[in-house]
Formats: sequence, C-alpha cells, structure tokens
Amino acid sequence: MANRQRIGILTAGGDCPGLNAAIRGVAKTAIVKHGMEVFGISDGFLGLINKEYIELTESRLSGILTLGGTILGTSRVKPFKKQSNGDRTISKPELIKEHYEQMGLDCLVCIGGNGTQKTANRLAKEGLNIVGIPKTIDNDVYGTEMTFGFDSAVNIATEAIDRLHSTANSHKRIIVIEVMGHNAGWIALYAGLAGGGDVILIPELEIDMDIVTNYLEERAYKNKDYSIVVVAEGVSPKRKKKSAAEYIAKMISERTGLETRETVLGYVQRGGTPSPMDRILATRYGSAAVDLIAGNDYGKMVTLRNNTIVPVPLEEIAGKLKVVTDDNPLVLKAISMGTCFGHNGSYKKNND
Ligand code: F6P
Repeated sequence: MANRQRIGILTAGGDCPGLNAAIRGVAKTAIVKHGMEVFGISDGFLGLINKEYIELTESRLSGILTLGGTILGTSRVKPFKKQSNGDRTISKPELIKEHYEQMGLDCLVCIGGNGTQKTANRLAKEGLNIVGIPKTIDNDVYGTEMTFGFDSAVNIATEAIDRLHSTANSHKRIIVIEVMGHNAGWIALYAGLAGGGDVILIPELEIDMDIVTNYLEERAYKNKDYSIVVVAEGVSPKRKKKSAAEYIAKMISERTGLETRETVLGYVQRGGTPSPMDRILATRYGSAAVDLIAGNDYGKMVTLRNNTIVPVPLEEIAGKLKVVTDDNPLVLKAISMGTCFGHNGSYKKNND
C-alpha cells in the first residue's frame, strides 16, 4: 500500500494497570480501522534513543488486554535533561529526531504521566508529530478528569484498607496505611473514602498534627476502639529518612500513647490486571488517539471530560499537575461526615 501511515508507540514513566489495553486500543484501531503500520518502541524514550522497536502485528496484540505492566517496557529516561558529565556526543533529542525519521514514522504516540507529556510537548515543538495518552495510578495528569491505572490502584488500596479494619479492630489499634501519591493525594482520598478511613492525609492540604491526634483521642474516648489513618506517600518529613506512614504513626503513638502500627502498600498498587473501568478507559484513549492521527491532528493529548474523550493541545497541559483542592466535593463530603484531614483551613460550601 503506497500511503500507509506508520506510527510509533511508547510507554514511559512508572508503569500502571491498563498500559497494554491502551497499546492494544492504539494498535488495533490503527491496523483494523485505518490500515496503518504500528511500531512498538521499547522502554519509553530510551527505545527511540537506541532505535529499539518491534512491529506490532495483530497476532502480537492477542491476549494483552488483561495483562498488567507493559509489553513494551518502560523507563524514566528524560531526553531533554541536561548531561551533567559534559557528554559531547549527539544530543538525545537529536537522536530521537533522527531515529523517528529513519523509522519513517508519521506520528509518535506517547503514553505516560506528567513527565512524559512534558517531553512529548517538547518533541512536538521540535517538529515531530505527537499524540499523548495520559496514564498513571496517581491520577494527577492535568487537563483530564481521569487517567487509566487510577481505578485499579484505588481498588487495590481499598481492599487493603478493608483488610486492615478487621485486624485493627481485633487489637484495638490505630493503623496507618500509606498509599502512593507523591505530589497528589487522589488515591488516598478515593481509597480512604471507599475504605472508610477515619483520617485521610494528603500532600496538598497543610496538616496540623494536633488536629489529628485530638481527633484520634476523641475517638478513643468515645469507645471507638480502633482507627484507620490513610496517608499519601507525599506527606513525608522534610528529611526523607522515614516513610510517610512511619513518620505519622510515630507522631501519633508518641503524642497519644495509643497503640499504633503502620503499613506501606507500595508497588502492589501498580501491579496486576487492570480493572474493567481502566481497560475501557485505556481502550477509549488509545482508539481516540489514532483517530486524531488519521485526521493529521497532532500536538494533542486525549483527555476525559464529562465522560467524553476530548483532545487538548499538549501545550495547555504540559508541566502542570492536577491536585486535590480543599473545595473538592469529595473532601467536603467526607468532612461533613466527620472524616479528619488534619487541615485547619476553611472550606467552601458543599454544592453537590
Ligand atoms: O506511578 C506513580 C508513582 O507510583 C508515584 O506515586 C511514586 O512516587 C512513583 O511512581 C514511584 O515510582 P518509581 O519508584 O518507579 O520511580
């Protein structure tokens, strides 16, 4: 076929459930609907620097929808990061451009979080045709209501909190559970609500530990025998010798004398098969991204807005972060039901 479009696809940054569903959504739409050729690039931007890729044929896509991780591999390589060792070899963006041309790509699909979309935007400015797809368990990509990976992570974290309830209850303890979320507390907020956490601590809201400890002491005084504290990993001490969970648990036990334990959930939140919602969202994003390419509409990231997939310019979202604000309807709802955020700020009126 003379004018077959050829696209490259890569997954970059931390992995998450749903990456393979997105790869499949891109590749199947490209091959079946638009008759394109698809190259899967290895290990994020590293694969473009090293020119390592495979052709994604339909047979290679079989059985990947339900798989966790990414069949392409991923890395956190940042091509625009300055070389600290005075490396005078050809620059990484130059290599990427050269290999993009050599591979005969018409467009590069970049599946990733904030860092990836920032790089994608810079590559678009360098003249490459780029389309971005937002992913991360942290749900902190600016411009979209939801990233895929988030729903699966919330399911895993909620199940962990559910399990902690029974052991905390048996021993009449406070259990502090740390979930992922370095810059944003979306997982803590959602899993905390779904799991009935008594205290939810997130990096966006300034925390007053007196409020937290008074709240826990009051619960104990009211014969509420145990408490669950959900903390996002970004709520950490200035000098990072301890995890957020250790830091908070130590403060609680020292200040209240109540028996306290901590659990760090860690990478289990990023592993395993994606939830049905993540499979669907990843598939929708992947398919919509290819429809943009078919219309030669580049330099955009697909987003979810009011349950509709909407393309937005990468320029509008690059370098920004979507965080939880103190007027978030879920925060307000939780506060109205007595959940403690350890926050002494004033809240706007709940309007949902
Ligand atoms: O995927 C996002 C995230 O889970 C963050 O919450 C966390 O800080 C980070 O990745 C850690 O990942 P890694 O150790 O792979 O850099």
